[in-house]
Amino acid sequence: MRVARPIYDDDGRILLNTGVMLNQLYIAKLIEKRIPGIYVTIDETDNIPIPEIISQQTRVTAIKQVKDVFESVQVGKTFDIEPLNQSINSIIDEIVYNQNVLVNLSEIRTFDGYTFAHSVNVCVLSIVLGLKFELNELELKELALGAVLHDIGKLNISSYVLNKPGRLTKDEFSEVKKHPFQGWQILRNNPEIPLLSAHVAFQHHEQPNGQGYPRRLIDEQMYHYAKIVGVVDAYDAMTSVRPYRNAMQPSQALHLIRQLSGIQFSPAVADCFLKCVAPYPIGTRVLLNTREVGVVVDVNSTNRDRPIIRLLFRPDGKKYNKYQEIDLAKEDFLSIEKSLL
Ligand SMILES: [Fe+2]
Repeated sequence: MRVARPIYDDDGRILLNTGVMLNQLYIAKLIEKRIPGIYVTIDETDNIPIPEIISQQTRVTAIKQVKDVFESVQVGKTFDIEPLNQSINSIIDEIVYNQNVLVNLSEIRTFDGYTFAHSVNVCVLSIVLGLKFELNELELKELALGAVLHDIGKLNISSYVLNKPGRLTKDEFSEVKKHPFQGWQILRNNPEIPLLSAHVAFQHHEQPNGQGYPRRLIDEQMYHYAKIVGVVDAYDAMTSVRPYRNAMQPSQALHLIRQLSGIQFSPAVADCFLKCVAPYPIGTRVLLNTREVGVVVDVNSTNRDRPIIRLLFRPDGKKYNKYQEIDLAKEDFLSIEKSLL
């Protein structure tokens, strides 16, 4: 296997570049750095282009800006929001420019496990939803800033609790539950940050049914931005590897969001989200009902559950000599059983 996309650390340094052949040493290093997944090419998938919502460079710069803000807050310094605002402007421009963004969100799982990368993922997806809700430019920026800093209150939680592999005790969970309020305090003390952005930090764990925290608000009491970030944050968390569980596949996470719509998630936002995200992103390996294995090469924008598949393996597990591509939207008798890692 060769690396298909460069792998960066939080400072934007390249750990492994495109084209590098993976060996046991590199794999051990990636595990040590808690990088849960990367893009690789193997012969059968060599020429499948994986679309990007935003460029790697924009993403890496944004991750670095978020890290800088977090670090300034941690040492009690005032922080300049301008560099982060500039990154947000670039992210918005690229998303607006990229026509495929609404269906191909496969890359958002690449860097998970890192607070800063998670924050940028949440920001990107929130902007996608914001555009669907026809927010204007100013509103998009408020939403994006709130989204990218929504978890800043986590700075005050001990890393022991944040990374604990097992269940949290009652006391530990109460510590976690403080982060929305603490985030709100940090953000509202900076005059450059709009109040509505600070409310995203305060409200992103509230739930329409009144069972969220810290204030048990109900749907009507929540700001729209916080409802958006609430869904996106939950989705990104579900599809990330956590110390206490494996990552869910996008299709499983979307199924859960559908089930929890109106309970944990605001229905209008959950509906919109389900329309934006592909359950089987490009590059996903899938098992078909015929027991054949294929890889998703394209997503049908009108029928996201039935993408275009390149068949790789026969039902008996043997490789196909010649790869055939089939459009599931046109093949009623074929269906996806599950996605494979
Ligand atoms: Fe949070």
